[in-house]
Amino acid sequence: MLTKYKYPIIIILFLINILGFWYINLRVYTIDKIEIPHARLAETLKDLTIVHISDMHIRRDGIYSHRIQKSINSLEPDILFVTGDLIKGPEKIDEALEFFSHVKSRFGIFYVPGNYDHTYADLNKVLDLFDGLQRLGVHVLFNRSLRCTVIRDGQTRSFYISGIDDLVTFHDDIDDALSGCTEDLPAILLSHSPKIFKKAVAHDVDVVLSGHTHGGQIYIPYITQRLTRKYFIGSYLKGYHYTQGTHIFINRGLGASLVPVRLFALPQIAVLEFT
Ligand SMILES: [Fe+2]
Repeated sequence: MLTKYKYPIIIILFLINILGFWYINLRVYTIDKIEIPHARLAETLKDLTIVHISDMHIRRDGIYSHRIQKSINSLEPDILFVTGDLIKGPEKIDEALEFFSHVKSRFGIFYVPGNYDHTYADLNKVLDLFDGLQRLGVHVLFNRSLRCTVIRDGQTRSFYISGIDDLVTFHDDIDDALSGCTEDLPAILLSHSPKIFKKAVAHDVDVVLSGHTHGGQIYIPYITQRLTRKYFIGSYLKGYHYTQGTHIFINRGLGASLVPVRLFALPQIAVLEFT
């Protein structure tokens, strides 16, 4: 009996395996502690919980977004950085705003747009997204800097959060983004695309936080790195890197673009620790 159905059973088990693997790679995210060795920021941001998310590409069902929102709130962030690509299309704007209406971050949420945020909604819809975020109190950084002062345990600490608009869609202006920053205080630059890194190094930026790459999304060692480096993202695909005084962390993001598939590039929430 079993012998008769051997091959169909093997095929069904194989398909279940594939579906399970596909589901895990798309839906199971890791919460990773990322150490960035930067003494000035370590002193300035001491004892603060800093969370970084990217590339949610919010989907139709709200279950995944709800889980992410609960995970972020359970971390009790003092600062939440969001490096773009909230949506996958204009119909997801309401879901994106709903998500941020439930996310809590003690000293604020700081967001820069990604290429999907700009291109997958018409102009009015884009404004719906950006205006909606600002109405919720999210700091939307279109090529500008904010001087932030945190008072905790009687101590006053200041630093800059700079945000560059998306360079993939040619909205970036690094000079505007960094204008107002002074050398006496450390600065963190948010940029959806890590391709900004060369310019950031040339401008002596302390730390860049990026996304965009989805860690390769479908990560085949060597091949993905080669292709994306050549055509899309510049030198780095994911994780922490350092060059000539400038640090960069590239978040793997939480969603998927183009096709709903991720492989060997698990979604990620990052908790940044400056040391
Ligand atoms: Fe993305």
